[in-house]
This record gives sequence, C-alpha cells and structure tokens, in this order.
Amino acid sequence: MGRKVQFVETVLRDANQSLIATRLPFEKFEPMLETIDKAGYYAAECWGGATFDVCLRYLNEDPWERLRKIRAAMPNTKLQMLLRGQNVLGYSHYPDDFVKLFVKKAVENGMDVIRIFDALNDVQNMKVAMEATVNAGAIASGTISYTASPVHTLDKYVEMVKELKEMGASTICIKDMSGIIGPQEIYDLVSAIKDSVDLPIDLHTHCTTGLAYPVYLKAVEAGVDIIDTAISPFSGGTSQPATETMAYALRQLGYEVELNDDCTTKMANYFKTIRDEYIADGTLIPKALATDTQCLIYQIPGGMLSNLMTQLKQMNALDRLEEVMAETPKVRADMGYPPLVTPTSQMVGVQAVNNVLAGERYKRVSKEIKAYCRGEYGTTPAPINPEIREKILAGDKIVEGRYADTLAPVVEDTRKQLEGLARCDEDVLSYIAFPQLAEDFMNARKEKEENICTYSIVEA
Ligand code: CO
Repeated sequence: MGRKVQFVETVLRDANQSLIATRLPFEKFEPMLETIDKAGYYAAECWGGATFDVCLRYLNEDPWERLRKIRAAMPNTKLQMLLRGQNVLGYSHYPDDFVKLFVKKAVENGMDVIRIFDALNDVQNMKVAMEATVNAGAIASGTISYTASPVHTLDKYVEMVKELKEMGASTICIKDMSGIIGPQEIYDLVSAIKDSVDLPIDLHTHCTTGLAYPVYLKAVEAGVDIIDTAISPFSGGTSQPATETMAYALRQLGYEVELNDDCTTKMANYFKTIRDEYIADGTLIPKALATDTQCLIYQIPGGMLSNLMTQLKQMNALDRLEEVMAETPKVRADMGYPPLVTPTSQMVGVQAVNNVLAGERYKRVSKEIKAYCRGEYGTTPAPINPEIREKILAGDKIVEGRYADTLAPVVEDTRKQLEGLARCDEDVLSYIAFPQLAEDFMNARKEKEENICTYSIVEA
C-alpha cells in the first residue's frame, strides 16, 4: 500500500457556496452529518467564507448555533473553516481585538482547523489570526492564495510558507480559487514547498477550467497530503472535484485512501435529491456545473466573470464585455498583481468596468480602490504603478506599516452598546461583522422569545 492521501469534504461550505450561493439551510444537510462523520474524512469544511453572512441574511439562522449543532452531530471529524485573515469574514480589515475574540469563540464553539488566507498574500494580515488559532489550541492552516504573475515566483511562495510556519502553521494550504493552476505548475510548487518545509500540504482548487483532476493527480505525485473534494452531486463546474472519483483514481494508483465507500454512496444518493431540488427551483444554474476555459485565456476567475457580466447588463453595456475583459489584467498589473480573490477580485473588476465606461482610465475610482492605494489592504505583491497611485490618491496619505495597527479596539464598546439585545459574545461578534443583519436577527429572536444562546455575556 502506498502513501496515504486524506480528504476534506466541502459540500457543507465551498461546494454549497460555489454552486448554490450558500443557500443550504441546516435542516437540509442535518440528516447526513452522522454519515459524513463516519466516512473517514480528514476534515469537513463547514463554516466561514460566505456561510456566516448567508445564515443571517437569507436563512434566519444563527451561524454560531449552526456550528454548535454540526459539532454535536459530528464528534469524530475535524471541523474546518475559511477565514480571510484580518478581514475575518468581511471585506475590509478589523481591529485585532475582534479578530482574536472571533477566532477564540470559533474554536470554543467547535472549530478544529482554521484555514487563514490574505487576498494579497501579505502575512502581516494573517499573523494575528494565526496566533489566536494556535493559542486557542486549534490547527492553523497557513494558506497561499495562488495566482500567476511575473512577480509570483516559486521562491516567493516558498518564502511565504516559511513565514507561515514561523507563525505557527501546522499545515499549509495552496488555495487556487479560480482553478487556473496547471498540472506542471502544481507539481513544481508542491515540490518546492516540500523541499523546504516539513509540513503537510492541503490542496484546494475548483473545477472551473477543467484542470482540477489532473492537477490533483500531479499534486499527489509531488507529495500533497490532503485534497479538497465535494461529494459527486455537488462536484464539478465551479465546485471541487468529486470525492468518490478521486478516491477511486488514487486507490488505482496505489495510494491509501481511508474513506468508507458505503458512507460516500449514502451521501451521494442523498445529495443527488437535494441537488435536483435546487436545479428545479433555478438556484443551481447549468452554467455553474459547466467547464469554462475562458478563465485560462483572461486569467479571470469564473465567479468574477459572471459578476462582470451582471454588472454590465445592469448598465446596458454588455457589448463592452470584451473591452472590460481585456482591461482587467491591465488593472491587475497597475495594482501590483493582487491575486484575484475576495475582495480584490471585486475591486479590480469594478475598476476595469469604470475604466472602460468612463472613457478615461482611473477617472472614476471606487472608495475601496482608494483605500487599497492608501495601503489599507496591506503590502501589494509588486508596487502599485506610481503614476496611477498618485492620480488616485490625489494628495491622500499612504498608511505606513500594518493598517490594523491604526484601528481602535471595538469589542468592549460594542458589548456596552448591545446590552439588552446581545446575549453573548457570539452575538457581539456577529454584530461587528454584519451590524444590520445581526441587529435584525437579534430583534426577531427577541420577539420570538427564543432561548438558544445561553453563554455568558461578558467574560472575565
Ligand atoms: Co474555494
């Protein structure tokens, strides 16, 4: 028997987010939790990313309660979440006291593995979350947001991985959010990391361009320890490769896979009916399951491309799509080659639209791009084009050092502000992350006189 390869099941989080905009309510997947728990996964990714926002915004669920219920139903499997470093679950940087308390509470409520990334791969933006994870006794998975550019060399990635190890990472994750990494590139990247750092490597990609299956095989050949997959009915397209298919292929190649086939079959049968419901009601559109090789030409993530199209359609300018797609890589280069992941993908996309429609580049600039040029998102992979930066800043000051160092603590004041409404620190954290949504949720809960959250309001 060959080397062991482990699996992370993504149906509860990323597959759910990528295919059906995170709309799975707890009751829909609850009947399968026991089966997932028995299947032998390394971990189940079930929280973070958009799940928190969608629970409050659309599903009338307390995300913390969801986590506790999953924990109770899955005592044997590690639970994993995705955290945007200093952005936590949001789109801009938060003060350190919020980041620390959020991580602490996530672990207290049942989280085992926290996958921490930064949209610019600026490790200074990951440091506080990494340390808080280690302090809480959970597994910190230091993550590379994979992108290709003239400045993203193997040496640079290896250097980043070493820094993440210094910060306490127990595993390294390579996160290819748009599915653009090729089989040779992943082979070289995994080999380079394995040569310099002795940590398990987890690979996360998407089937968007169709490269994911050969990429996983080459990655495993180069020594990847863990792969992210989705149970077959929720696999493919903008989601991950299928769990059962990868298990089959790896076993044939002589690797050891500990997954229980009876459990994965049961899961597949169950989630097939769920998928069909979402196809029938239009939540799951056929395009999400298709292969899209355009991303390889334009190096634009699939989700970003559909956002651009929606935006242009709303502005009655869909005929400018080609120009916008050609402008996007130029904006990305001007901005110092940020990886295109939340929130930089949105920022770069909107700017490309503005540049094309305004008839003059950087005449119209979003407040996010201004903040980005002031340094509020961290250090960019390459310097921002100085002339463009000057034009955008128009005399504004650039932040020196780590932006979060300039932010005042927020937790204590929010606790006071929410007295009578918040029942616990989890409520306070939800409010800081999504004020309006959390307030509406807490008010509705008060009306219903529910009594779910019984934790102490203020800790010592
Ligand atoms: Co993903």
